[in-house]
Amino acid sequence: MPGEAIAATNDVNRIEAPVTFKTYLMCAFASFGGMFFGYDSGYINGVTGSAYFVNIIDPGQAALSGPHNSLIVSILSAGTFFGALAAGDLADGIGRKWTVIAGCVVYIIGVVLQTAAHGLGLLVAGRLIAGIGVGFESAIVILYMSEICPRKVRGALVAGYQFCITLGLLLASGVDYGTKNFPNASSYRIPIGLQFIFGVILGVGLLFLPDSPRYFVKRGRIEQARKALCSVRNQPADSEYVEAELAEIIANEEYERALIPAGSWLNGWMNCFRGSLMKSNSNLRKTILGTSLQMMQQWTGINFIFYYSTPFLQSTGAIGNTFLISLIFNLVNVVCTPISFFTVDRVGRRPLLIWGACGMLICEFLVAIIGVTIGFNKTHTDAAGNTVANNISAVNAQIAFIAIYIFFFACTWGPGAWIVIGEIFPLPIRSRGVALSTASNWLWNCIIASITPYMVNKDEGNLRSAVFFIWGGLCTAAFVYSYFLIPETKGLSLEQVDKMMEETSPRTSAKWRPTTTFASEMGLKSGKIDAGVTEDVERKGSIF
Ligand code: BGC
Repeated sequence: MPGEAIAATNDVNRIEAPVTFKTYLMCAFASFGGMFFGYDSGYINGVTGSAYFVNIIDPGQAALSGPHNSLIVSILSAGTFFGALAAGDLADGIGRKWTVIAGCVVYIIGVVLQTAAHGLGLLVAGRLIAGIGVGFESAIVILYMSEICPRKVRGALVAGYQFCITLGLLLASGVDYGTKNFPNASSYRIPIGLQFIFGVILGVGLLFLPDSPRYFVKRGRIEQARKALCSVRNQPADSEYVEAELAEIIANEEYERALIPAGSWLNGWMNCFRGSLMKSNSNLRKTILGTSLQMMQQWTGINFIFYYSTPFLQSTGAIGNTFLISLIFNLVNVVCTPISFFTVDRVGRRPLLIWGACGMLICEFLVAIIGVTIGFNKTHTDAAGNTVANNISAVNAQIAFIAIYIFFFACTWGPGAWIVIGEIFPLPIRSRGVALSTASNWLWNCIIASITPYMVNKDEGNLRSAVFFIWGGLCTAAFVYSYFLIPETKGLSLEQVDKMMEETSPRTSAKWRPTTTFASEMGLKSGKIDAGVTEDVERKGSIF
């Protein structure tokens, strides 16, 4: 009866464990994995610029040769790309928690090799291995956090991961600054070796946390799922809150398994690409949504600022201390990200992505227009032969707009892209869907990092400020994209997100309210776990 179903839903929505401080701490801990991501993306620029390091790799040269530089920088992305993809499989096999711990071990091995290196070979091998570890972390931390966080604060807690990325980037630029002029091996061993500590903190800390209850349900281990849920919700073994949440996860798994049958390894991957392109809830559409969302996040051009702002600013001749400006950019990124902790679960994911893209595109076009008219692009050569900007105030205005652009990124697309990819996939394809989306982030990160020098280098594209027309154009695409394609997932459990995507289109999704639950649709009395369904899930999960 529909009336019963509604009553059941209301029950499920009402009986929910209160979010305690311990819950916050447990759920937020894994976000520390973001440090690996940020630090690894950031520290290498300083190391490759240190004179001692250059002399080891290319003896007698003032700077690293182009091929060596790009090999050292980009080998990490190759590792992260494949690491993220492999981690999706592993997370379904050995669990989310153990995949993250395995990632820490791989990462530590890579760090030890790089620290011990005194030449190109071992360094590149170490960076490739560390990259695989970072790939594990970046995909599975998001998966793990999305699955254990209470729905009402899930956005804020996952945004904590992005906050750690920004802290990692900031720390990397500080450590680089402090060590780059050391006249010995400490100039690269300190920035590289520091990562060892991150690996140990995350790996050891996670040993004390339970695995995701949704992973246990997927593997048919209902008792372990119950224990894990009690632990992350800080509830006693007989908690009715836990009983209700578990019933819904089990019923959803039973429902999804009927639609997406498990099978061989290949079939598991093929499942991510099944369904109609026209239906917004098909697996194919969800996979395209997750991977394209991460692509769009990279298209915003944020890494142009974090990877290339120093040479870019130097080229104007207007800025004395370019390091200080990039430090300010990093600080804006760190300080503004926490704004999303408060907005993402209140305002919602969709408005943040739409208005964030709008804010960024306005700033980028302004930087471009000021630049080509009176700013960065208008320079002259002074008596001493230096390049000097004609209009310093215009250049300063451009820098201010870049900072405002970073503000918009930090409180919208930075955390938003990670939050949404953790929420849109149904359990049978979730780990692979998140893995594919994360791999797409790294792929586009690498593509953009590799092509940007050709766009801005003096003897190549020499676009200077005009490069912001490209980022502004791509942000316009991100704006239109989020308006038409991003669904609103705030406040919903992962199982409700599944239903919402079945019943609405992205533009109507914000108005959707649950009217039924998977548990009640299966004829289960709300909040009570049904022995028959449970046995079925246990049986199917155990044969995987
Ligand atoms: C992006 C990174 C970027 C960082 C900046 C992350 O969400 O994926 O590519 O460097 O934000 O804060």
